[in-house]
Amino acid sequence: MVKLKHFVSVEELSNEEILGLLSRAGEFINGAKPNIPDKQIFVSNLFFENSTRTHQSFMVAQRKLGLDMLPFDTSHSSVTKGETLYDTVLTLDAIGVNVCVIRHPEDRYYESLIHADTINCAIVNGGDGSGQHPSQCLLDLLTIQQEFGSFEGLKVAIVGDISHSRVARSNAQMLKRLGAQVFFSGPKEWFDDSFSEYGEHKTIDELLDIVDVMMLLRVQHERHGEDTTFSKEEYHNQYGLTVERAGKLKANAIIMHPAPVNRDVELADQLVEAPQARIVKQMTNGVYARMAILEAVLQGE
Ligand code: CP
Repeated sequence: MVKLKHFVSVEELSNEEILGLLSRAGEFINGAKPNIPDKQIFVSNLFFENSTRTHQSFMVAQRKLGLDMLPFDTSHSSVTKGETLYDTVLTLDAIGVNVCVIRHPEDRYYESLIHADTINCAIVNGGDGSGQHPSQCLLDLLTIQQEFGSFEGLKVAIVGDISHSRVARSNAQMLKRLGAQVFFSGPKEWFDDSFSEYGEHKTIDELLDIVDVMMLLRVQHERHGEDTTFSKEEYHNQYGLTVERAGKLKANAIIMHPAPVNRDVELADQLVEAPQARIVKQMTNGVYARMAILEAVLQGE
């Protein structure tokens, strides 16, 4: 059984830990009973950026595990009076919260929390700025593993707004480490050298007939500032997965997207729920991946 003190970044996880969490998520899909300490356990979900999937699927996972989830609405907390993240977590820890799931706009916000001697609760990262999205990575790996059995030799394209994407960073790092070949695509100005060590940048048309996984990313307008030149149609035609391009994918290739999807921008509307798409499956898998993560940090307490 995997035991973790915190779950904040794929960089801090070994391959064995990731594969162990995937295996445990699979057991939860098959109805395994959770193995968590026999005591009252409180969890708090602190989302300083909006979320549908991550927030709600962590809540479903917490209820399936029988945990006591404390509602925490950042807009009605003392954060509005200037309370820092450290002081919020210090307070929750002091009143008995065992796990804080946190999404925050600042890259690596978790560093000051996991290295503080004063804080004992486990920190689970629900996404930090353009840094990491490790629970999304785990559910994406689970979806790929269900399809292909392993990662060795798989060819995976990550396409779109790479430099702003915590999903791209976590997935590229972990996929490469597990033996997959990663490619990137999308506007060159949304790619940066920090990704070059994980894979080559190519046009989407060069990748269509070679990849096993076509993973599209959301255009993150909220991280671009004022950009009045962006055209959805032009983006879709030049960088997106159009219906015509999807017809050139390998017969057993799958289409993934962490969602929310900008339909007809990253990929054609009718491809979102198409037979080769696993986007809805990714959302379902998120519950089981997050059950495995929560169980691991409760085992590591
Ligand atoms: N994929 C993802 O993180 O979605 P949410 O922002 O809705 O949580």
